[in-house]
Amino acid sequence: MRARSIHARSPAVPLARAFPCLPRERSSAASPSRALGASTRARRIARASSCRADPFARGVPSGSRIFGHSDDLRRTPRSRDGVEDVRSMARTAARVLASPTPSPRRARAPRGATRAAMSSPTSYVPRGPIERARVAVTGANRGIGLELCKALLARENVVEAGCRRASDALRALERSSDGRLIVSEGVDVGDDAAIDAWARAMTTRGRRLDVVVNNAGVVGTNGYDAWDLETTTAEEMMHVFKINCVGPTLVVRALLRHGLIGADANAPSLVGNVTSKVGSVEDNGSGRGYSYRASKSALNIVTKSMSIDLASRGVHFALLHPGWVKTDMTESRGLIDAEESARGLIRVLQGEFGDCERFWFDYKGDKIPW
Ligand SMILES: NC(=O)c1ccc[n+]([C@@H]2O[C@H](COP(=O)([O-])OP(=O)(O)OC[C@H]3O[C@@H](n4cnc5c(N)ncnc54)[C@H](OP(=O)(O)O)[C@@H]3O)[C@@H](O)[C@H]2O)c1
Repeated sequence: MRARSIHARSPAVPLARAFPCLPRERSSAASPSRALGASTRARRIARASSCRADPFARGVPSGSRIFGHSDDLRRTPRSRDGVEDVRSMARTAARVLASPTPSPRRARAPRGATRAAMSSPTSYVPRGPIERARVAVTGANRGIGLELCKALLARENVVEAGCRRASDALRALERSSDGRLIVSEGVDVGDDAAIDAWARAMTTRGRRLDVVVNNAGVVGTNGYDAWDLETTTAEEMMHVFKINCVGPTLVVRALLRHGLIGADANAPSLVGNVTSKVGSVEDNGSGRGYSYRASKSALNIVTKSMSIDLASRGVHFALLHPGWVKTDMTESRGLIDAEESARGLIRVLQGEFGDCERFWFDYKGDKIPW
């Protein structure tokens, strides 16, 4: 097993450089927050305002915002010293956050559902704090997925945890969650019908999802057994591709169809796809890992296409690399534990290291080349 070498650090490449067809990336001076040199609070408000000013929220077709094709700046009020910009953006943020939200179309409380589980927060802004939001996580029963659930619950979120079979740890978390963790079993991301059933069930508990983390994944049909070219088979490649790439794609499609994300959700959502640095073409300095590398590279390009196609429908995307994490997948080898990884991934989704919609970050904010 040579997992260590595939997690070596490497230089960052902005997505726009990796994809020259994209419009040019923004300079840091052009960033509304950095150019202003404002306080953290003002930056948060500015960011919230610039996201909330998204034409999607107003039913106007959007330009694009995701992965380096943003038109935010053209809409952002500016002045020479930036002071007016912050005030103006803060006013916009306050206005938008105070505006009435459309009434839920399909939310109906199932018997026994708690108020917490039914809550449908409307103040979530992609790249803003993930607090008191409604979040769905796949592969929630162990490893990074389980720790994501714990960390999200600690931030007062309502968490929809999808898994094939709940672990004792997940059930214990559910019992202590005061109804904010909803566990759904049978959510096999390799099964279109199972994904659809999960999405349908979620519509009965809440109007929409703020954040979705496509975390479920496999390294192989039997761990690292087929890591080499000689041991790689068609079946191995197809299975890993199906779970790691097709699965997240079908999850997003199902959530869209059921109006949990996208235009029908009436507010923007953020989808974080848990990929791996192993899927970075530029970072690959050690070969091997054919099925896994290919599946994660494929997930990256799928994520990029979805980010373009769904920009006008208010669905934002981020690619996430958890680091080399001590879980079952890595046979407990790694540099960090799942708790640290999950905390870092949430920070990435909150935009704490920079624009997660334009750059691919690992759990500690290091940019990863494509
Ligand atoms: N650990 C690392 O160093 C590392 C590095 C880079 C990226 N990642 C990525 O991080 C994610 C989580 O990995 P992990 O380290 O937490 O691995 P893990 O401990 O092996 O957990 C994998 C999770 O995915 C679920 N899963 C597997 N196949 C599934 C399927 N067909 N349908 C639904 N769920 C399925 C598992 O559920 P079951 O219990 O039902 O199998 C489990 O919950 C994966 O996408 C992985 O590729 C991990």
